[in-house]
This record gives sequence, C-alpha cells and structure tokens, in this order.
Amino acid sequence: MQRILVVEDDQGVRETLITFLEMEGYAVDAVGTTSEAIRRLTDDGYPIVISDVYLDERTGLDVLNAAKSGNPGCSVILMSGRGTIETVMEATKRGAFDYVAKPFELDHMLEVVKRAEAAAAEPEDEDSDINDLPRSEMIGSSAAMIEVYKVISRAAPTDSTVLIEGETGTGKEMVARMIHNLSGRAQAPFVPVDCGSIAASLLESELFGALRGSYTGADRDRMGALEAANSGTVFLDEIGDIDPGFQLRLLRFLQEKEVKPLGAARPRKVDVRVIAASNRDLARMTEEKKFREDLYFRLNVVPIKLPPLRDRRSDIPLLAHFFLRRANERYHLEARLTESGLRALQEYAWPGNVRQLQHMIERLAILAPQNRIDEEAVLDAIASMSSKDIPSDTLAGTEADQIRKVLAAAGGNKSRAAKILGIERKTLYRKLEKMGSL
Ligand SMILES: Nc1ncnc2c1ncn2[C@@H]1O[C@H](COP(=O)(O)OP(=O)(O)OP(=O)(O)O)[C@@H](O)[C@H]1O
Ligand SMILES: [Mg+2]
Repeated sequence: MQRILVVEDDQGVRETLITFLEMEGYAVDAVGTTSEAIRRLTDDGYPIVISDVYLDERTGLDVLNAAKSGNPGCSVILMSGRGTIETVMEATKRGAFDYVAKPFELDHMLEVVKRAEAAAAEPEDEDSDINDLPRSEMIGSSAAMIEVYKVISRAAPTDSTVLIEGETGTGKEMVARMIHNLSGRAQAPFVPVDCGSIAASLLESELFGALRGSYTGADRDRMGALEAANSGTVFLDEIGDIDPGFQLRLLRFLQEKEVKPLGAARPRKVDVRVIAASNRDLARMTEEKKFREDLYFRLNVVPIKLPPLRDRRSDIPLLAHFFLRRANERYHLEARLTESGLRALQEYAWPGNVRQLQHMIERLAILAPQNRIDEEAVLDAIASMSSKDIPSDTLAGTEADQIRKVLAAAGGNKSRAAKILGIERKTLYRKLEKMGSL
C-alpha cells in the first residue's frame, strides 16, 4: 500500500483528504503543523507528501525541503488558496511535483496523486536551473492562473518559442516580459514589435533592418528589431495580423535565425528568442487558411492561453485591491473599496479584462465621493464606460467635472487621463475642445 503524508492545518480539509485517500486505497498519515511534519519526514521518508503552503511560522516550502532531504525521490504536492507566481516558481525550483489551487475537486487531487505515484516509480529528473528571481507584479491565485505560472516557470529558463493567446488586456505582454526576465537572457534586451500597428510595407525593415539608401527615405542604416534583440528576446505582438507574404518571411527567419537587412549583401546570424502573442484564435485562422500552418507550428512550441477575467472572477478582489493600492500611492489618495463595491466589480463581465479593471479602479479612486468606492460608484463607472462612444452635443456638467478631476490627478497628462477615463485620446481632445479647455 502506498503511503502518503498529508500536512494541513485546516481540520476539515485534512479529514476530507484522509477519508478520500484511504477510500482510494492509500495509507494516510496526517499532521497539522510544520514541526510535526518535519519530524515525521526526518524519522521516516514518505514517497508522497501533500502539503498546504501557508501553515504556521513555517510554510509548505519548508515541508518540501524536509521531504526532499529525507528522500530525494519524494513527490511533494503543494496546495494553496493564495498561490502567487513567486510561490509557484519557488515550488518548481525546489522540485515540487505539482501545485494545486484550492479549492480543488477531490478527483483532481487523486489524478495528481496517481501521477506522483507513477513518477516515483521512474528514475529522478534533473532539477531545472532557475537563478534567483525578481519579485513580480503578476497577480492572481485562481486555478487558471496557477496553471499559467507553471508553464511560465518551466518555459522561462529554456530558449523555446512561446505563443501567448488571450483576449485584449489579459496580460499577454506582461507574461512575455516575465518569461524574458526569468530567463538567462534577462540582461539582454527585450524588444517588442507590434506587428498589428505597423504597415505591412514597413514591417520588413522594422524587423530585419535596412541599409542607407535601400529605399526612398532610408537616409541612414536602420537596425531591425531582430538584430536589436540579439542575445535577448523579441516579442512579436499581434502576430495574427501579418499578411501571408510576411508570414513566409517570418517562417524562414525562425528556421534559419538569420537576418538580411534591406539592401545588405549577405545575411547575419542572430541569437534571439521569439515570443509571439495574438488576441485572435490562430488555430482557427489556420483552419480557415488565413494563417500558415507551418508558421503556426513553429510558433506554438509552448502555448500559453490567458483566460479572460470573467472566467476567473475569484482573482478580481486581489487585482482590485492591488490596483487600488497602486492608484492611492500614485495619486496620493486614500480611496477605499466597500464590500458592495467589490461585489459589483466581481459581477461585471470585463470585456477589456485586467487592463479595463485597472483603469476603472484608477478612475474610481480619483472620482469616488468621500473616497468610498461603493456599489453605486462602480455601477456609474461601468455605465459611463459602456456609453463612452455615444456622441453627445452638450457635455453634461458632471462629465466635464470628472474630466477636470482626472486631468488634474494625472498631472495634466492627456494620454494617461484618457486611459483612466476609458476613452480614446482623440475623444478626450474633442471633449476638451467642447469644454473650451483646449
Ligand atoms: N495578472 C495581472 N496582474 C497584474 N496586472 C496585470 C495582470 N494582467 C494584466 N495586468 C495589467 O493589465 C494591463 C494589460 O496587460 P497587457 O498589456 O500585458 O495585456 P495584453 O494581453 O498584452 O493586451 P492587448 O491584447 O490589448 O495588447 C497592463 O497594465 C498589465 O500590467
Ligand atoms: Mg499587448
């Protein structure tokens, strides 16, 4: 019979796990503190340990260390309702077998335990080598985000090409930067290229560079992004927007890792890692023959799908408080979020995902009456965001008032103010013009 040690301070969860795992035929020992766990693990190795992360003055990571030093082949499964990318990275680095977000389905836990059992029967794997990691700003403890952190922590130290897919504002660029910062290339440049906003005719020289005189207007040599990112990472954003001719060029590049600037006689080798992102469904575009299948496979080596915010609403409280703290610091405010306000935020669909939430919190922090962000304030903000594109001839006094407040908080910076207001910059200019403030 396979033995398992369960380390969990919550009695309910502990007993549920004992009953369930015993029913599945395991011999389960369970403890509620780190010191008991560590004592047992030094006296007596276990092949499988399931441990909570936040326990007492020590954590599941200490349990992990004890388990590994007692028995290097031990499979340690960590679980937490407050996982962060740092804890997941740290757990991966120290050789945890898996990280399970709480609350979990018992069947899911059983599946992980079965995999751990199978792995324990196999020879040990080398630990991946990740050096000390900078603290990140990526927020979210939902099961979906924990899955994303796992992929990031495995893919980052390798040179593999990564394809990040997700709706607008889900954090694609943030993930790309994080992968770069956690890789051996962190000291070299990270060069983003927004393939969607660059005219097809310019993309070539933007990426590959151009020598002076190679086209009209090329009055000097221009280094392309791929060369600028040498020994670092290039981030090809909105890759689904490039035209078929250029898709072929890019495929060649991924195969050869060579660049030939416009007008240059011969190609040069470059050493770049490629991370691509798209908010369109590339697999579908491939089926519809709008995106080359061979290029898709070249890019999709490590796929990361970022879930929309509405599918991980449990992350909204964390994100909202994180952005609120930042807005309070940045604008020297003392806004507070009430329970009802938070509930209203959690119920909204967030078509603009995390970015929209961030801007709405900034706006609410600046505009909330008495510094209280309550349900009414949230519902008002949501209503005015969705009607932002409805043109109106006369500006309501309150709107003009809001614009003035936001502009003042943003130190007169119009781009920032437009973002906080959730409108385009040109819309803000139009409104300012009407207000007679331009
Ligand atoms: N998990 C997260 N924790 C904290 N901030 C986040 C998170 N995800 C996204 N953000 C913030 O939301 C904003 C949008 O993120 P990002 O630019 O990475 O999104 P994107 O997917 O690239 O969007 P787009 O498709 O519109 O380019 C950024 O300000 C980023 O810092
Ligand atoms: Mg982006």
